[in-house]
Amino acid sequence: MKMINGLPVFEVGNTSNPAIFFVHGFLLDNTMWNYQIEFLKNKYYCVSYDFRGMGKSLVEDGQYTIEAFVDEIELILNELKIEKTIICGLSMGGYISFRAIEKFYDRFNGAIFCDTRATADSNQGKLKRAAAIKQINSEGLDSYVESFFSNIFGKKFKSINSVAYEQHLNAAKKINPIGVKGCQLAMMGRNDSLDFLPQINFPVLAICGEEDSLTPPIEMKYFADKIPNCNFHIIKEAGHMSPVEEPIIVNKIIEDFLKKSF
Ligand code: MLT
Repeated sequence: MKMINGLPVFEVGNTSNPAIFFVHGFLLDNTMWNYQIEFLKNKYYCVSYDFRGMGKSLVEDGQYTIEAFVDEIELILNELKIEKTIICGLSMGGYISFRAIEKFYDRFNGAIFCDTRATADSNQGKLKRAAAIKQINSEGLDSYVESFFSNIFGKKFKSINSVAYEQHLNAAKKINPIGVKGCQLAMMGRNDSLDFLPQINFPVLAICGEEDSLTPPIEMKYFADKIPNCNFHIIKEAGHMSPVEEPIIVNKIIEDFLKKSF
């Protein structure tokens, strides 16, 4: 592990292999990608990190923007001397990845988007974020994390993998609320990347849980159709956390995509 600008960065695999840069989701950290990295590490140079506000990152003042998150990805790529990478992001990690591709297009040669969307928040979405911040301030983080997690993980995962579910829940409850609220504000202020999608001319994979209620398959299909070279897959009986909920199926899809494209 290396600290870069107050962010823990993890490298697994040989640096001479094609690089994959993993960006986790909201209320999660680098470990959400453990199954994928373990599976891919012999053929790919896998880099993951905890972005500002989450995991073991230095939380600072909570005044976050997606632009700053993206600049930090560029900084990490520079520090690790990675000229080009495939970027793989889930949900908020996907929002960051879309903007990173738009801003630093030449640094990327492929993308994997899991359970995410390319559009900015709707008015209703912004109000939900304001309500989340209000709930954290009035009821505390635990109550917010519990309501959030019960919505994002699919029914099957929660019943079959209750231990793993509890682990994610307990880890999220330990996050500094300043970081959590800062991430909500960053997501609230993000750009819409929809118009940029037709310009992405490298291979893209899009994966979505069938029961994802936050970024449902219909919304993912909508953006996937705007990217010229995009493979779209729906993961049966998974919610918003498809790589965590169905790692064997998701790993196989990622492996096939990478084999075909790189
Ligand atoms: C995530 O799962 O990363 C976020 O919840 C996405 C969001 O709140 O829009």
